[in-house]
Amino acid sequence: MKSAILTMLRSSKGTVSGPFMAKTLGVSRVAVFKHIKVLKESGYEIDSGPGGYFLKSWGDFVYPFEFADRQKNIHYFESLESTMDEAREMARQGCPPNTVVIAGQQTRGRGRLSRKWLSNAGGLYFTLVLRPSLPVALAHRALFAASVCLCKVLRDLTGVAAMVKWPNDILVDEKKLVGILSEMAGEGDLVSHLNLGVGINVNNSPHAFEPKSVSIKELLGKPFPRRLILEAFLDKMDDCDPVARNIIDDWRELSCTLGRRVIIQTPRQQIEGIARDVDTDGALLVERADKTVERVTYGDCLHQIMEPQQ
Ligand code: BTN
Repeated sequence: MKSAILTMLRSSKGTVSGPFMAKTLGVSRVAVFKHIKVLKESGYEIDSGPGGYFLKSWGDFVYPFEFADRQKNIHYFESLESTMDEAREMARQGCPPNTVVIAGQQTRGRGRLSRKWLSNAGGLYFTLVLRPSLPVALAHRALFAASVCLCKVLRDLTGVAAMVKWPNDILVDEKKLVGILSEMAGEGDLVSHLNLGVGINVNNSPHAFEPKSVSIKELLGKPFPRRLILEAFLDKMDDCDPVARNIIDDWRELSCTLGRRVIIQTPRQQIEGIARDVDTDGALLVERADKTVERVTYGDCLHQIMEPQQ
């Protein structure tokens, strides 16, 4: 109902009368009044007057009722330690595929390689539970699919020059806009759930923690509604077959890593060279100075400033 009320308020240029809303939605005026009250308490700026209701600003909310048809699979929390923990528990309890756990803020947000992920208000922090019929060995494709889908969505919606960095970050002008973390459980050789944790700097200021970062708000000079990004990302993921070979081709096209001089820090070694390609398993192929090629499956990738010598 709240979803329908918001749609009516947003599609109207002026005030919408209570009786008109009640009639259109097939509910009582009191029911409309009660829903409007809850929306106001949730932060929506709705003016009520003799002529009816008027939405003063669209607001930047990611409550389940903002996602009409998907709302039953969307779980919103004002604050969580980490959406990964909540989503893992839900996945273990058998939640449906495409369940999304969103947090307004995280108190112990996690990044790759045991790092922290600063999760202050205004950012978009969520974990998407996937249940792809994939062998464990192909699970990385879903991760590449997620970074490709999100990169395209951010470019299309906001116009920012987003690019993917190996393995799954999204950068603009070498500054980090998005981080993606994954957790997987398997049954035998098959994936039972694959949880994708996504942190996007949208209307927050990430610099206090990470100087080489940027948010959409800073890039555009104005806030951008987080719900539009999440909705478009979920739609794109629905249409994306993670097993398709072209995921890696798409990743190559959007990559700011390939052709660059990189240093890859792994727990065991440091590999330095030029990032030549990514293979179908998502491994980075790094050509060292002696022309030998190292296949890197895991590690921290640092882009070097120097342009590569061919
Ligand atoms: C990285 O670049 O290191 C990955 C960062 C992933 C952050 C997201 S925010 C939502 C989800 N919950 C977490 O605790 N981490 C991921």
